[in-house]
Amino acid sequence: MKRRRQHVPWIAAGSASETERSADDVVRGTGWVFNNRTGDQLNLKKFVATGDHETIAYLEAFDLLDGHADRETMVEVGSGIGRMTASFTRMYNKVVACDLDGAFLERCRETVAQFGRPDRLQTSHVADGRTLGLATGSADVVFSYITLQHCHRDDAIALSREAVRITRPGGHIALNFRTWVAQDAVLWPAGKLVRAAWRVPRIGPVIARRRLPARLGWQANRLSPREVLAAIGPSLADISLFRGPKRRGFGLPGTTDRTFVGVHRSHWWVVATVK
Ligand SMILES: C[S@@+](CC[C@H](N)C(=O)[O-])C[C@H]1O[C@@H](n2cnc3c(N)ncnc32)[C@H](O)[C@@H]1O
Repeated sequence: MKRRRQHVPWIAAGSASETERSADDVVRGTGWVFNNRTGDQLNLKKFVATGDHETIAYLEAFDLLDGHADRETMVEVGSGIGRMTASFTRMYNKVVACDLDGAFLERCRETVAQFGRPDRLQTSHVADGRTLGLATGSADVVFSYITLQHCHRDDAIALSREAVRITRPGGHIALNFRTWVAQDAVLWPAGKLVRAAWRVPRIGPVIARRRLPARLGWQANRLSPREVLAAIGPSLADISLFRGPKRRGFGLPGTTDRTFVGVHRSHWWVVATVK
């Protein structure tokens, strides 16, 4: 199986999480790859609390809290160690947590066991970084946050197609992407250098575990709504593009422009119904 270079930091963080003794140590050691917080005082409880806040804020903003969640299946693409997953299992009848890294999925189970509903959780390893091993039409909602920006652009498009494939007709997708901002004039070339360095024997694995270079290198694509909707738009209805209020609207015909204060200036979301 072809391993993409942008898998390196996630596999490195996943392996690091395997060596930690407790879930709190995992958060102190590798939690920064999920919510960018560091410090000796961190623990799993505080980590999950950040996810609890965001799940509800996003689902409300996207009009996805329709009162039926307790009968529905949610698929989360890029669950990590379950920062948001625990909260989703408290809302949905079934949650399938999908991730590139198998060690993260094990930790996700531990997080959900402590702070969510483990009886409602299933995990699914995205071994090739682009295929979801789930049945067509099996999900009511597919949600992905700060994950598709970390994939090779072809994989991000493939996962978007997969999200649409596994969603039942009438179900919803809410997918988060990153697009260009002015700072990318510096960030993008620096990121390319870091990703090249990850391949260098001996040095690469060390760099991959360091916070600053990892943060530079792991944003592996920039995708515009036009590019994503060229791939999945024909399968969607009621397409809303969410952006932060400081960003100009994308002005794409056939879409509704919406803003939400929780969306970072470089981010955007497509929220839509699958036909
Ligand atoms: C920044 S974390 C976000 C995790 C979670 N959504 C959250 O907000 O805490 C990105 C996650 O995406 C996963 N990931 C990266 N590339 C992936 C891919 N190609 N397929 C599936 N998961 C991927 C990483 O392993 C990591 O757990």
